[in-house]
Amino acid sequence: MAVLKAGVLISGRGSNLQALIDAAQKSGYPATIACVISNDATAGGLERAKAANIPTHIISHRDFKDRLAFDQALDAKLQEEGVQLVCLAGFMRMLGSWFVERWRDRLINIHPSLLPAFAGLDTHERALEQGVKFSGCTVHFVRAELDHGPIIIQAVVPVLPEDTEETLAARVLEAEHKIYPEAVRFIAEHRVNVLDERVFITGIAAASETLISPIDGLAKSPAAQ
Ligand code: GAR
Repeated sequence: MAVLKAGVLISGRGSNLQALIDAAQKSGYPATIACVISNDATAGGLERAKAANIPTHIISHRDFKDRLAFDQALDAKLQEEGVQLVCLAGFMRMLGSWFVERWRDRLINIHPSLLPAFAGLDTHERALEQGVKFSGCTVHFVRAELDHGPIIIQAVVPVLPEDTEETLAARVLEAEHKIYPEAVRFIAEHRVNVLDERVFITGIAAASETLISPIDGLAKSPAAQ
């Protein structure tokens, strides 16, 4: 099977980019990273790409008169690099509908919550404020609405009573690094179909366990039943 050429868009430290780089370096992984584009020249992720000999490009939104002109420059660079799938990995600019439609179902994003809960910024702060017992992360196809679109894969993590934004973010991030390369793999293996804005993946089992939090140890033990 031909290897899928992914382009990764970043704005910051690039730990999800690193997870994709690490996966792509494993033998048999069906995708390669053709290029990394950042809208910020100081993004730490650029160094990760360079260390892996991946071409990098800086396209700053500040250099363009409007969103469309910026989006068109991104698109031109992605085409030039032969990119087939665009992966947003901490890319903190909204893409306009021209770009989103042009890359429809070939443009994915990772977000640090169980979408559609907590779209947007300050995800972990809001999750803690709301007192949710589980949080997690989502990889989804991008639609024009922020952090919205058909869900490909999610991971659930517990929110612990002593959590701070930092501890929760770290737990979620660890899960992000697991699911992003998986989502790209499913797509590269041509197993992902979008039907009526829902994603169906062939040859895969859905999670079968119910998670409960908090769990009362007594209720769980056989003696209590
Ligand atoms: C990640 O937690 C990602 O889910 C989030 O930005 C972080 C980037 O970290 N993205 C969003 O919030 C998109 N709405 P990274 O640069 O280390 O991958």
